Amino acid sequence: MKTQNTSQPIGVFDSGLGGLTIVREIRRALPKESIVYFGDMARLPYGTKSREQILAYSIQNTLFLIKRKVKAVVIACNSSSSAAYSFLKRHFNLPILDVIEPAAERASVETRSGRIGVIATRATVTSGAYEKALKKLNPHFKILAGACPLFVPLVEEGWFDGKITEDIAAAYLKPLLQKKVDTLILGCTHYPLLRESIQKVAGPRVRLVDSIKPTVQKLESLLDKKGLRCRSGRKGSLKIFVSDKPGNFIRLGEGFLGEKLKSVKVVRPK
Ligand code: DGL
Repeated sequence: MKTQNTSQPIGVFDSGLGGLTIVREIRRALPKESIVYFGDMARLPYGTKSREQILAYSIQNTLFLIKRKVKAVVIACNSSSSAAYSFLKRHFNLPILDVIEPAAERASVETRSGRIGVIATRATVTSGAYEKALKKLNPHFKILAGACPLFVPLVEEGWFDGKITEDIAAAYLKPLLQKKVDTLILGCTHYPLLRESIQKVAGPRVRLVDSIKPTVQKLESLLDKKGLRCRSGRKGSLKIFVSDKPGNFIRLGEGFLGEKLKSVKVVRPK
């Protein structure tokens, strides 16, 4: 039995503010939809934590959003998607989307040689979630994954380009480029902000793929399929909840969201 209705908001969570890039795209592509966002700033980063810990946080975040009466949940964090997607889908009775399957599907269309690179946090790389999703699409794909733990702090510092960022990117990408990947998945919500530097290092032949558009396209078709598209004539609202508001919060958040940060509340999910 369907318990959700069209006027309820979409719930989105991330370990921090990176998931606001998904919110930005939902607001562009599905402007009538209202959104409740939860960013777990107090417990960021997830990408360095164990699967069990990330799963526990992801369950709490989902419960928090369900209490705010969302009609669907987008796990806008690769580390959470890799640790918790199948569990959340099995245990919660509402549509749940991850960011890994949509990015894998897009990469499977983009690649010509079948050699696909994945860069992500340690938690996502260790989980093997991208390999699994890609191999399901085509068992012949050759997948090379590498963790880039310095990318998240670089983004948080606003170091999107420049020599240091490119040197770090070159060091991380070297083993993948040596294996001649032709498509590279940016498997972390922070990495699209480093897109230009990563493209510069990877060269023009390597196609970069991120989760943002593919996830929102999948959300759109899922809402249509379930009859949950908002039919209101007005622009949807955006409520942002965070578990902490550190000093760089506004600069960082507005960079990810692409608009002024309004209606931000600090909460502690239990
Ligand atoms: N949101 C995380 C992800 O997409 C990146 C930041 C973190 O490590 O928590 O994997």
